Amino acid sequence: MLKITFVSPALPTQDALILTVTAERKLGAAGVKLDQKLGGILSRAMENSAFKGDKAQTLSILAPGNSKLSRLVLVGLGDPKEANDMALQQAGSAALAALQSGKDDHATLLVDAHKGMALDAPDAAAQAAFGARLRSYRFDKYRTKLKPDQKPALKTLAIAGDVSAVKAAYQTLDKVADGVFFTRDLVSEPANVIYPETLAEQCAGLEKLGLEVEILVEDKLQEFGMGALLGVAQGSVRPARVVTLKWQGDKSAKDKRPVVFVGKGVTFDTGGISLKPPGGMEEMKWDMAGAGAVIGAMKALAGRKAKANVVGVIGLVENMPSGNAQRPGDIVTSMSGQTIEVINTDAEGRLVLADAMWYAQETFHPRCVIDLATLTGAILIALGHEYAGLFGNDDKLAEHLYKAGEAVGEYLWRFPLHEAFDKSLDSPVADMRNVSSGREAGSIVAAQFLQRFVKKGILWAHLDIAGVAWQNKDRPASPKGATGFGVRLLDRFVADYCEG
Ligand code: BES
Ligand code: MN
Ligand code: ZN
Repeated sequence: MLKITFVSPALPTQDALILTVTAERKLGAAGVKLDQKLGGILSRAMENSAFKGDKAQTLSILAPGNSKLSRLVLVGLGDPKEANDMALQQAGSAALAALQSGKDDHATLLVDAHKGMALDAPDAAAQAAFGARLRSYRFDKYRTKLKPDQKPALKTLAIAGDVSAVKAAYQTLDKVADGVFFTRDLVSEPANVIYPETLAEQCAGLEKLGLEVEILVEDKLQEFGMGALLGVAQGSVRPARVVTLKWQGDKSAKDKRPVVFVGKGVTFDTGGISLKPPGGMEEMKWDMAGAGAVIGAMKALAGRKAKANVVGVIGLVENMPSGNAQRPGDIVTSMSGQTIEVINTDAEGRLVLADAMWYAQETFHPRCVIDLATLTGAILIALGHEYAGLFGNDDKLAEHLYKAGEAVGEYLWRFPLHEAFDKSLDSPVADMRNVSSGREAGSIVAAQFLQRFVKKGILWAHLDIAGVAWQNKDRPASPKGATGFGVRLLDRFVADYCEG
């Protein structure tokens, strides 16, 4: 695991050095000095390459023989006036990726002083450190045969700057990164390790941060009448759980109602009796990424001691086919009292959320409810791996979420809801069916289903994260695999909506 340390801004004399450059190959104050000292190799290297100092561009230069430095990595920020949080994070990420391909075990990152920079120096350094840390994530625990040269050599990254100011700016970001890493770990774990009971235990472990964690076992779920959630769980030998994680960081708040996050936690989704095809089914271990994001966000909020009252509610089940599994055509009664004809047992996420959301509203009388779920394959067809789908009954809430996403690089795109879609869920034998008869607008129809479990007057938004929770390619802020999507978004949402 990469360790981040803080050092004074004096130029290091050994190991690797990362230095920022702005558009049109402009070195900053320290860069100019170093270039002079090294006989102009930085300028020459830039002139003789495609490196222009554009956002997240890197150029790796071997240090000359008269220097004890091993390598110099130049990383671009683009236009200094537009060098915002994201640009700095991307620079940190890109530099980290460039270093990981080398042999250095230690490097210093210096965000140089550039004319006209939008961010102040400590914030800029902290954001670059955050980007580097997010990119350094690895999930290697089951790779017992990795040779040393297959693992990144880099062990420590020293952030150069005004030590106490940079440390202070980095402190909260570090807690957010802790939340992101926790989510990535949970999402990466296979379903024989993470299932409802063990995922609930992982939540209980967060009590040490000051979160109140309550685990509801099946008797309780039965008592509450969560027939929709329990119907999904009944095919599995692993019993269901609903977990609530409560953070009360603002006891004197005028508005006592908490913000509530609800997460889909299907620890494995075989499809049930409506069995999925085998190709790629292993991916359904991450069908709990909505719950994972809620857990990671709660960890981040508690870690940074957010001045806000927030509750996370996660519905945990395993969707399996078995002699005891629910059948297509079964009719279940949800906690809300509404009955559901289960046409397709693979549309299970909405059944889990229906009860988790109802429980959340009954129990916590929220200021707003935001659910996160790897809900539909259709969202991948619409938005690919770039954006998550945003749905909701309130423009202001949607706008807040959209903006939070833009600010942290977890992008959302809004979809419509409309009665006409809702109608397609009517059933001749129950209050509704869990799927419509066609494949059209699958993500919207799923959101319409959820909306039937939103109480009158409750502000609600739904994020369909099926396309963004897992990536098959490296991304600026995350290596391929579990992204932890949602943690930074929800953290920023709370910061702006409750603490701002
Ligand atoms: N967990 C899946 C959605 C999913 C698909 C997530 C691919 C990530 C990647 C969900 O439970 C599901 O199976 N949805 C069905 C709904 C359909 C039966 C209406 C789907 O999208 O095919
Ligand atoms: Mn499914
Ligand atoms: Zn699913």
